[in-house]
Amino acid sequence: MPSIPGWKDQILFTPGPLTTSRTVKQAMLRDLGSRDFEFIETVRAIRNGLLAAGGVKDKGYDAIILQGSGTFSVEAVFASTVRPGGKVLIAVNGAYGDRMLHLCKVLGIATVEVRCPEHQPVDPAAVKKALHEHPGITDVATVHCETTTGIINPIGEIGAQAHAAGAQFFVDAMSSFGAVPIDIEGARIDYLVSSANKCIEGVPGFGFIIARRAAIEATDGWARSVSLDILAQLRGLEKNGQFRFTPPTHVLLAFHQALLELEQEGGVPGRGARYRNNYDTLVAGMRAMGFREYLPAELQGYIITSFLYPDDPKWDFEDFYTRLNERGFTIYPGKVSNADCFRIGNIGRIFESDVRDLLAAIRETIDAMGLQLHA
Ligand SMILES: Cc1ncc(COP(=O)(O)O)c(C=O)c1O
Repeated sequence: MPSIPGWKDQILFTPGPLTTSRTVKQAMLRDLGSRDFEFIETVRAIRNGLLAAGGVKDKGYDAIILQGSGTFSVEAVFASTVRPGGKVLIAVNGAYGDRMLHLCKVLGIATVEVRCPEHQPVDPAAVKKALHEHPGITDVATVHCETTTGIINPIGEIGAQAHAAGAQFFVDAMSSFGAVPIDIEGARIDYLVSSANKCIEGVPGFGFIIARRAAIEATDGWARSVSLDILAQLRGLEKNGQFRFTPPTHVLLAFHQALLELEQEGGVPGRGARYRNNYDTLVAGMRAMGFREYLPAELQGYIITSFLYPDDPKWDFEDFYTRLNERGFTIYPGKVSNADCFRIGNIGRIFESDVRDLLAAIRETIDAMGLQLHA
């Protein structure tokens, strides 16, 4: 049954786009010229805010904003910063690591794959071994929070291996930046990517790259793309504060407001605490109803959780999803390759009371479907 549009949106328990605050949405009710003084000032504030959120303000890093979804920025880092003839080691334990391999393949960039099981973190010892066995690796890339499962990879240890081998280190922190503390300097990260519609709680429309200045300045002439050339994008932003091509002006206004709201919440630790509380509430409630997580608790991050399909002949994910949707809640299908799962995100402008409402709706749905789950 199609839902009737009303003033109240679905609450999104997804990995993004997310439920955003009313004030973030309201910030878009303006038209700003892309060469306008106020817009240029907004972009400057956003770039500084990103460096502050990453803990690298005035520490030799730059923030580059790039139009498009998060994948465009991941692709842009490969397309712009891998030296001609370079070779990228990609440590994979989920769909977004696989996407990195795919991006490099299409770009014609040589890769070495270190594959780890989806229910285990990337193994830094396996990265070390591969670096040893494959001379000529110029870059190491991995995903911080593998949104496929919600696992958090040990980027500090992986970065140390990359650094020891003299390779650049690239981290896709799409679903964790802004809510999970990341020591960009300590982890020896040269390039980190995230996007507008994740933990900063903006709306979709651009990604961003936090780049170590010395690393990106050395990439002159390496770009394999014009629109995804992040050094050119940085130079454009630095020259006159403008984008090279039409910027998503309304999305940037929303993001500027979202950064202010991040600060009001106590920055990354404050936001992380709310998400962790959402996660704790969710998992306790789901277990009490008889659901089980795909990952062991000690590996599970607080961004998103994969739950195993219950072992009941009456289980039907489409039916479960639709019934929750009719009650005003949007959850997310699974992406794990070796188990049937669905996912529930804890991020976005959602609070413990929203999680409790979701749990109550799940309880009702289980009863309506006649499922017999055993807590
Ligand atoms: C870790 C990670 N990488 C990449 C992406 C892709 O981002 P987008 O869908 O914005 O292109 C996502 C999206 O959820 C993600 O979680």
